Amino acid sequence: MSQGEPFNLNDVQRQLRRHVESLRAAGVEWLPRGEPLPLGLSLGTSIAPAAESLAAETPAAESSLFEIAPTSSASELSLESRRQALAVLTDEVKKCMKCAGLASTRTQTVFGQGQVGVELCFVGEAPGADEDAQGLPFVGAAGQLLNKIIAACGMKREEIYICNIIKCRPPGNRTPLPDEASNCRGFLERQLELIQPKFICALGTCAATNLLNTTKSLGMLRGKFHDYKGIPAMVTYHPAYLLPHRSPEKKREVWEDMKMLLARMGRPVPAKA
Ligand code: URA
Repeated sequence: MSQGEPFNLNDVQRQLRRHVESLRAAGVEWLPRGEPLPLGLSLGTSIAPAAESLAAETPAAESSLFEIAPTSSASELSLESRRQALAVLTDEVKKCMKCAGLASTRTQTVFGQGQVGVELCFVGEAPGADEDAQGLPFVGAAGQLLNKIIAACGMKREEIYICNIIKCRPPGNRTPLPDEASNCRGFLERQLELIQPKFICALGTCAATNLLNTTKSLGMLRGKFHDYKGIPAMVTYHPAYLLPHRSPEKKREVWEDMKMLLARMGRPVPAKA
């Protein structure tokens, strides 16, 4: 709305409603009640009635908060609402300070990359130095290898969603601590609920054990499908483990896992990697 345009309360109410719905879809359940905004006053009217009417639709449990109704199940949301909710969730993650240590050492959070509604989502462990610098998952050496795995499967990185168990880089690339994984769990769950991938592939022990809430070894978990909230989930070695200085011979097993995944997805299985 530019200066001088008539101030339309219905427009404001619509925008507020849309904003609240995005917040609700992203899992935000409470908003501060706050004071009427001076913005409305400077325009010669107040948006307080719009906010108040919205607040009046919901029970007030505490004087300073109003509930914005239970989180909608993402399966009830349109693709566009899920996109908006994911953007809101991304912003929530950017502001997260739950792990004080990680928040103080990160350059930025690394939420994930890809589109809602993709068929396949890869879940890794945590951002490394390159990811922390660029704000995107799997863009370093392990990421280059993951790109090759994706290409060998006859897919493009753009058709896949990629994220991690935790959204901040652990200093020195150490494995995320149980508390860090647990602090980030709600974000990951909501992220996957909004993306709604048809299949998930967990990369490495940290991703597999946290995602599937198990203490089993990777050797016991790989080679078969697991269930993550109704989504078939495959487990395989982390691409960093396949790098030349570690265990490149494990690429063969990763390829076996990928072939099993492709077959279950109903996609053609390339003859060889
Ligand atoms: N390793 C991971 O687990 N995730 C990344 O994003 C990069 C490296």
